[in-house]
Amino acid sequence: MRGLVLAGGHGTRLRPLTSTGNKHMIPIANEPMLFYGLRQLAHAGITETGIVLGPIHEGIREAVGDGGAFGLKVTYIEQGPPKGLAHAVLCARSFLGEEPFVMYLGDNLLERGLQSFVDLFVRERADAVIGITPVNVPQQYGIVELAGARILSIEEKPRHPKSNQALVGVYVFSPKIHEIIATLRPSVRGEYEITDAIRALVERGDRVLVERVHGWWKDTGAPEDLLHANDLVLECRLPEEFSQTGRVEAGAVLRGSVAVGDDSVVEAGASVQGPVVIGRGARVGRGSEVGPGTSVGDGVQLNGCTIRRSIVMEGAQISGPLHIRDSLIGRYADIRAQGPISWEIALLVGDSSRLRL
Ligand code: TTP
Repeated sequence: MRGLVLAGGHGTRLRPLTSTGNKHMIPIANEPMLFYGLRQLAHAGITETGIVLGPIHEGIREAVGDGGAFGLKVTYIEQGPPKGLAHAVLCARSFLGEEPFVMYLGDNLLERGLQSFVDLFVRERADAVIGITPVNVPQQYGIVELAGARILSIEEKPRHPKSNQALVGVYVFSPKIHEIIATLRPSVRGEYEITDAIRALVERGDRVLVERVHGWWKDTGAPEDLLHANDLVLECRLPEEFSQTGRVEAGAVLRGSVAVGDDSVVEAGASVQGPVVIGRGARVGRGSEVGPGTSVGDGVQLNGCTIRRSIVMEGAQISGPLHIRDSLIGRYADIRAQGPISWEIALLVGDSSRLRL
C-alpha cells in the first residue's frame, strides 16, 4: 500500500500567510502541520509516499527531503494549479500504479491516526474506506448520509445537508478509483471532486466502507481551526515531551507544561503559563506573559508583551505593552507598540510584515 499526501492548493483562507508560503509548512506546536500526517502514514506501516505539490511549495522538499527522517520513501508530484482532490490523484496516477493507497489531506490532523482505516480496508477487502465524524456546520464539508452502514448519499458542501456526518481528510482506495477519476467532469465550483468519485464507486456497487473516527479530528484550513489544532496538540502532549533544555532565569515564573528549547531564555520577570512550547534560540523578555495554548517558534523575541493562545512563527519579534490573543504571527514579522494598548488584539500577520501600533 502507498501513501499520497496532498500539500497543494491555494490555502486562500489563511492568506496572507499562504501568499508567501505553503499552508502545510505552517507550524502547529512548532512543527510543520505536514509532519503530523507523514508520521501517521509511517506509523501505519506505509513506506512509499507521494507528496502532491501545488503552486507555492517552497520549503517542503527542503524540510522533508527523501522522507528518511520519517521512515518514508518520498516522491514529489507536481500538480500545479489546484483543480481538486481527484485531480491530485490523477496527477499521481503513475506513482500509484496498481497498488491500493491511503490519501491524506495534508492540512488534516487526526488524534488517533489512520491505522484503523488501513486495518478495515485490508480485513474487509474493501474498494474504499472513508472516515466520518459529526460536525456542527455540515454545509462546509463533504457530507455522508447513512442507513446503518449503507451509504445513501455523498454530497460536497451541500446547501441542505442530509446529515451532520462529515468526511474527514483520510481515504483508502483500491486502484479501481482510477477508472472513475478518468471519467470525472469538473463540478459547479470547477474542481474534480473526490466526493463525486466516491459516489460513483457506491453507485457501481463497489465495496465502500465507513470508519467512524474516534478521538479528535481537525481540518486546519482556517485561522481559528489552526489555533484550535494548536490547542489540541499541546493539550495532548505528554508531560515528558515538554523538556526544558534552554535557560530559565531565577525570577521567571513557569506554570503548567512548558517546553523551552536549546539556547532559548525565559528572563527574570517573565511568566509563562502552559501548555506552551518555546523553540530554539528564542527570548521571552522581562515583563512578557505567554499564556496557555501558545507556540513560540525558533528565534522569536518577545519583549514586554502579553500573548495568549497564539502561534508565533520563527524569527518574529513582538515588543511593547501589547495584549495579543488568538493570533497567527508570520515568520520574521516585526510588531511594535509605540505606546500602551490596553485592549486585547487578535492578529493575522503575514511573513516579514512590519506593524507599528
Ligand atoms: P482545501 O482546504 O479544500 O483547499 P485549499 O488548501 O486550497 O484551501 P482554501 O480552501 O482555503 O483555498 O484543500 C484540502 C487539502 O487538499 C489541502 O491540504 C490542500 C490539498 N489540495 C491539493 O493538494 N490539491 C488541490 O487541488 C486541492 C483543491 C487541495
